[in-house]
Amino acid sequence: MNAKKIAAERAVDYIKDGMIVGLGTGSTAYWAIEKIGAKVREGLNIKAVATSLRSEEQARKLGIKLIPFSEIDKIDITIDGADEVDQDLNLIKGGGGALLREKIVAAASRQLIIVVDESKMVDKLGAFPLPVEMVKFGYEITVRKLQSLGCEPVLRKVDNDTYITDNGNFIVDCHFKRIDNPSELHNKINMIPGVVDNGLFINMAAKVIIGYNNGDIKELI
Ligand code: 5RP
Repeated sequence: MNAKKIAAERAVDYIKDGMIVGLGTGSTAYWAIEKIGAKVREGLNIKAVATSLRSEEQARKLGIKLIPFSEIDKIDITIDGADEVDQDLNLIKGGGGALLREKIVAAASRQLIIVVDESKMVDKLGAFPLPVEMVKFGYEITVRKLQSLGCEPVLRKVDNDTYITDNGNFIVDCHFKRIDNPSELHNKINMIPGVVDNGLFINMAAKVIIGYNNGDIKELI
């Protein structure tokens, strides 16, 4: 059983005709976008905003109507994945490199539905390295400031090339191992000049849908 797929498809049940929908990024959000595309072909009438160029391209191929962010006041529902989810529904996101657009879209959404497989549920955040998006200028200093917060920062690379986000920035993956106070850490990181945003999503998820390998689905609110 594909646990990511069943969680993602369950989330799509919450989308109703006429809604503006935020499309997440990653291998779980992928299944939600596929299902939305299928429903659009069956007559569902929605407009969407994507959190990455990848998701935008997928949506376009499926015939999902995309609108620019500038034309939107509020997004009704956003469906997105996560790298870790704790018991308070705080998240680490950004493993796929789209954390900034994901956070902008999430913050503009009436309801953020997070879809994950069971492996993403944790007692404490931090085993997954926390992605931090930063501008290129002076990034060496920005990285040293991050290090002083108690992590081992690693500049993200893909095939030996430095990874560049859809916004033209770097990502540094911060190995904290365990984050005891996510809210405090979120604020401390975002106070560092050069940091654009970090992958901690605090009190943003309205609902988390967990898919299990045995086919079960659980919803946390
Ligand atoms: C991308 C993200 C993804 O939602 C997160 O990395 C989870 O990805 P996946 O569903 O592939 O496990 O935050 O920036």
